[in-house]
Amino acid sequence: MTSFVQASPTATRKSGEIKLHGPEAFAGMRRAGRLAAEALDLLVDFVKPGLSTAAIDRFVLDFALAREAYPATLLYRGYRYSVCTSINHVVCHGMPNEKPLREGDIVNIDLTFVLDGWHGDSSRMYPIGTIGRRAERLLEVTHEALMRGIAAVRPGGTTGDIGQAIQDYAEAERCSVVRDFCGHGLGRLFHDEPNILHYGRRGEGVPLKPGMFFTIEPMINLGRPQVKVLSDGWTAVTRDRSLSAQYEHSVGVTETGVEVFTMSARGLDRPGLAKAA
Ligand code: MF3
Ligand code: CO
Ligand code: CO
Repeated sequence: MTSFVQASPTATRKSGEIKLHGPEAFAGMRRAGRLAAEALDLLVDFVKPGLSTAAIDRFVLDFALAREAYPATLLYRGYRYSVCTSINHVVCHGMPNEKPLREGDIVNIDLTFVLDGWHGDSSRMYPIGTIGRRAERLLEVTHEALMRGIAAVRPGGTTGDIGQAIQDYAEAERCSVVRDFCGHGLGRLFHDEPNILHYGRRGEGVPLKPGMFFTIEPMINLGRPQVKVLSDGWTAVTRDRSLSAQYEHSVGVTETGVEVFTMSARGLDRPGLAKAA
C-alpha cells in the first residue's frame, strides 16, 4: 500500500518505465515471497489475545535476520518497524506498540522481506479469538476481492481489469474500496511502477505484460471509503470508524496468466483458517 495514488491521470500510463523480468528474477521473487508467507504462517499460532503488536514486530525482525533477510519497512522513509499492524478501523500503516490485542479484534499484519535483493510483500488478517459476524464477513469479502483481482491478471489485460474485478465484487457485497492507497510494482525496488488501483474500469490503465511484478492489496471497509492519516504521519483510519480489512499478495505476470509469489505453502492465507486458537 503504499504508494499514494497520484492525482495525475497520466501517472498510470508510464508503461515504458515498467520493468519486465526474466526467469532469474522470478526465482528470486519466489524465494522472497515464500519467506514472507512462512513468517505470516508462523504468526497464525503466535498471535492471540493479550499479545502486543510490538511482540509481533520483534518476532518478525528476528525471523528475518535469522534467515539473512531484511524487513523492507524498517527505516523506510522514517518508518521504524518491521511490520505494519492495523487493528479494526485502522486501514493500513498501523505502528506496533505495547498494547495487548483484545478478543474480537481483527488485525492486518503486513510485512515485506528483502532477500538477495528481491522484495516479497504480503499481508493477511488475523482474527483475535472469536470475532463478530460482521468482521468475519468483511475478512471473507476482502480475501475474495484480492483473489478476484489476482484472477484478472493475464498478459494482454490491463491494470483496470484488476481494479474493476475488485470494485465490482466488493461493492456488490455492500462494502467500499479505499481509494487513497494502492498496490505497486516491486522487485529489486520496494515501491515501483505501476500503481495498482483497486477500483477502475476493465481495459483502462497500464497494459499487463509477461515479466511484470506487482502487489495487489485491496483495503475494503464495511462503511464509507474515506480515510484520514493520524498526526503520527502513518496510521490511516476510516473517517467513519467503520471496520477495515486488507489482504496482499506479490504476483508476477507469466506468459499464460499469473504466478503468486507469496502463497502459503500450508494453505493458511485464507480467513477462517488463519484463526488464532
Ligand atoms: N508493506 C506496505 C505495502 O504493502 C508498505 C508499508 S510502508 C511502511 O506496500 F513504511 F509503512 F511500512
Ligand atoms: Co505492498
Ligand atoms: Co505490504
